[in-house]
Amino acid sequence: MLLTGKKLLITGVLTPQSIAFSVAEHALAQGAEVLLTSFGRPMSLTQRTAKKLSPVPEVLELDVTNTAHFAALHDTIKQKWGRLDGVLHAIAFAPEDALGGRFATAPWESVQNAFRVSTFSLKELAVALAPLMDKGGSIVTLDFDNSTQAWPLYDWMGVCKAGLEAVVRYLARDLGPKKIRVNALAAGPIATIAAKGIPGFKFLENTWGEQAPLGWDARSDGSIDAVARTTCALLSDWMPSTTGELIRVDGGFHAMGAKPVDLAALAAEKQA
Ligand SMILES: NC(=O)c1ccc[n+]([C@@H]2O[C@H](COP(=O)([O-])OP(=O)(O)OC[C@H]3O[C@@H](n4cnc5c(N)ncnc54)[C@H](O)[C@@H]3O)[C@@H](O)[C@H]2O)c1
Repeated sequence: MLLTGKKLLITGVLTPQSIAFSVAEHALAQGAEVLLTSFGRPMSLTQRTAKKLSPVPEVLELDVTNTAHFAALHDTIKQKWGRLDGVLHAIAFAPEDALGGRFATAPWESVQNAFRVSTFSLKELAVALAPLMDKGGSIVTLDFDNSTQAWPLYDWMGVCKAGLEAVVRYLARDLGPKKIRVNALAAGPIATIAAKGIPGFKFLENTWGEQAPLGWDARSDGSIDAVARTTCALLSDWMPSTTGELIRVDGGFHAMGAKPVDLAALAAEKQA
């Protein structure tokens, strides 16, 4: 199996719709041992969701806005497993006033909060856990592609994701000599709680499939499955020389300049 013997920390499981939940499901099916993280109020929801996995993973405390939690997480994993092979960073948040067309008016406090949770947390997590990856390892973060474009309504979350892509490259530089790979997986839209928090994101969910040559359905098991399986590939030993990379799992949307032209409709228009 792809992940036999791998000890993986998976953050970001909230509901069974969470992308991280599907990753955990596949990782367990592929032979990995898995620990999850959650925090504060969402903890009980994560624990309920974890019960849908088999075997049921333990859920450790990690609020990425609490510096002390990173050291405690390191110590707990060291005590439990002694080492670690891989980490999924699947964490993002931006206050309402930093999203939904409020780019120009978002206050610094909200931008700062979004950046700490969605971007800086990857650096914090990687630095805290890298010492446990003494035989090398793989760190994967989930991204929504902001490498070259601005999106409607995504606003400061887009800036945070662009920053996240840069953090990936700098971590790849610093952790490469320790044989730790760091990559971002840029997923197409998936209907999750985080996606619901972005006003207007439904528009992208509903229209993405029209431009993606492989098709895309934000609510289908197929699209989320593709994201989860590619994440597992990145966490495995089968991409050993890939780091600092942005891997797109979006049905091919990014490579098309526009959605396809309906030639039959064009011909009918010409005749009319
Ligand atoms: N849903 C999409 O369309 C989509 C597309 C591309 C990338 N992503 C990214 O995937 C990742 C996972 O999101 P999701 O869509 O599965 O939604 P989700 O709501 O299931 O997951 C978001 C997670 O972030 C966690 N989180 C928020 N604040 C935190 C904090 N202070 N400390 C620790 N954890 C915190 C939440 O508890 C939750 O588990 C995010 O980075 C998101 O930006 C999502």
